[in-house]
Amino acid sequence: MKQLLLATRNTHKTEEVVAMLKGCFKVADLSTFPDAPEVEETGVTFGENSTLKAVAISNLCQSLVLADDSGLEVDALQGSPGVYSARFAGPNADDSANNQKLLTELTGVPMEQRTARFRCVMVVARSGVVLGEFEGSVEGRILEESRGTGGFGYDPLFVPEGHAQSFAELGPGIKNGLSHRARAMKEVAEWLRLKD
Ligand code: IMP
Repeated sequence: MKQLLLATRNTHKTEEVVAMLKGCFKVADLSTFPDAPEVEETGVTFGENSTLKAVAISNLCQSLVLADDSGLEVDALQGSPGVYSARFAGPNADDSANNQKLLTELTGVPMEQRTARFRCVMVVARSGVVLGEFEGSVEGRILEESRGTGGFGYDPLFVPEGHAQSFAELGPGIKNGLSHRARAMKEVAEWLRLKD
């Protein structure tokens, strides 16, 4: 079976990608590569950060490497938190602090103006060379309070278009069919299949 190394230590991202690839690839992440450096996300776009991670990690191993950079763009905040989604409430912020900051920033904004999207850019690289870049997004709205216990990050606050429940309430069965990551992953999987 072909191998794919995910340039991430985020176990939630790994679980989602493993579920999406449904056993077509042997997937590992950086938990199997403890000496891998922490790649600083100094880019100002998802593509730049994803490329930084894919190139740095693939320079250190033989595997095909897949990096994911993703985040939430909120229209009422002019696209914030965007590439700063993981550190919206500060450098070591956790999901709960980030969600609280988002709710505070959106205080008083009516539901029809709480439009947002998750975006994900995936970059595939081998031996420091970028082989492909793929993108996915999902439109939705930001709730006025957290709902649900599944998923990670901003999932309890994000209701995808066409649904009444948050990603955290909908659970992986639905989220992994329509998320930004699922849409980018579908492009990657098709490209990988065509490649050989
Ligand atoms: P990254 O690891 O730099 O790509 O940061 C991604 C951050 O964006 C996460 O820490 C979350 O805050 C947010 N994010 C990305 N994808 C998702 C998702 O599927 N659900 C909820 N939050 C997400």
